[in-house]
Amino acid sequence: MKILIVDDTRFNLEYAKNILIENKIDCHILLANSGKEALNIINSEEIDIVILDIVMPEIDGIETLKEIRKNKVHHNIPVIMFTSITDKQALQKSFECGATDFINKPIEPIEFISRIKAAMRIRKYELNLKETLNTIKIQNEELLDLNKKLQETQSYLVQKEKLIAIGQLAAGVAHEINNPIGYVSSNTQTLGKYIYKIKTTIYKYRELMDCLNDTNIESKEIQGIIEEISELRNTLGLDFIIGDIDYLIDDSFKGIEKVTKIVQSLRNFARHDLKSDFNYYDFNHLLDETLLLVNNEAKHIIHIEKDLQELPLIYCNRTQIGQVLLNIMMNAVQALKSQTREDEGFIKISAYVSENHIFCEIMDNGPGIDESIINKIFNPFFTTKEIGAGTGLGLSISYDIVVNKHSGQLLVTSKTNEGTTFTMKLPIKKIT
Ligand SMILES: Nc1ncnc2c1ncn2[C@@H]1O[C@H](COP(=O)(O)OP(=O)(O)OP(=O)(O)O)[C@@H](O)[C@H]1O
Ligand SMILES: [Mg+2]
Repeated sequence: MKILIVDDTRFNLEYAKNILIENKIDCHILLANSGKEALNIINSEEIDIVILDIVMPEIDGIETLKEIRKNKVHHNIPVIMFTSITDKQALQKSFECGATDFINKPIEPIEFISRIKAAMRIRKYELNLKETLNTIKIQNEELLDLNKKLQETQSYLVQKEKLIAIGQLAAGVAHEINNPIGYVSSNTQTLGKYIYKIKTTIYKYRELMDCLNDTNIESKEIQGIIEEISELRNTLGLDFIIGDIDYLIDDSFKGIEKVTKIVQSLRNFARHDLKSDFNYYDFNHLLDETLLLVNNEAKHIIHIEKDLQELPLIYCNRTQIGQVLLNIMMNAVQALKSQTREDEGFIKISAYVSENHIFCEIMDNGPGIDESIINKIFNPFFTTKEIGAGTGLGLSISYDIVVNKHSGQLLVTSKTNEGTTFTMKLPIKKIT
């Protein structure tokens, strides 16, 4: 530890120094005989304790003290003032300017040593504290860095989970799209044939118009064309065609609308999660969108029943809530498909309002979840599916979305061989 003694009297400097040496105080002693010299030393090396005389020519002790405290780095150096008992006013001023302690002049060795020892102890604590704070600061920075990396990993995992889910859905979705595209294509072909027939008839009508405008043409000839048109009407089945066109166009529109909806749902699901996706949405609409993706997976083997009540708009992130619904529904479908069963599997989706929350229950009559693992299903990477079939992230991500990102709840009840019910509870925010 470095102790700097500042006094304009050489005798005082040496006397103080000797007392320290005689009492074997473990320190390095530096001497300065003016405020200016003291400030130079303090600015050029790290000093732990300063003993500062108040009365000095040029820059006195109080001015020197003010200069020391001006610099933030020297804020905590203990500064002990050297003062005579009569110097009460100067002493008070010193404390106002940041002095730590005082020592009476003339120096009384026992008092001097005990004050120095106390200052050294405080300094030691301070240095320890500084070091601890530094370590905490470094650790904190490391933690922040780690947290950032974890967030990046988490968002990567969420996206990966989605891609896997899309992979699982791909065949079904392709089929779901193929079907309407098939009949839109067939309708278009039929419409092409109809248009050819209509054109043929129109050409005949044109011929009739031309004849009617031509005065040289006899009415017998005109009568012949009229008969031809009437024959065309029968042979080409024009009456039927006119009725069928409306149906074909309407049917094709419906098909295209269905494809658009499926593609839109897929896009909504697959897109990167954006903060701006938080808005007021129709929850039943989100459910329908998800069902469009799941339906084909369930077709012919699972009966899906909806029991939806009218709901207020819900403030949520549509991509995230869509992801939760899809994962819970896909889990139910996969659980039902894993069974060899005689009867049709059953999934019931209900949505209702209670206690200022929207409740959504997804119930299945599948194999259920064994009591021994039900506490683990929300853990990341927990899966009972075969390697490659499930990542075990679906429910942990869903839990994070519902509980942490939407201040809601995600609950599960299950009975082996009877089925499972997941309940999502989301708070309703008033639109202001
Ligand atoms: N409806 C359900 N019926 C029976 N078991 C279920 C049901 N839902 C979830 N589970 C169990 O919970 C486990 C964890 O589900 P989670 O969705 O987190 O992962 P996963 O479906 O296995 O894989 P991933 O969703 O990543 O493809 C499942 O492996 C399954 O054992
Ligand atoms: Mg899953």
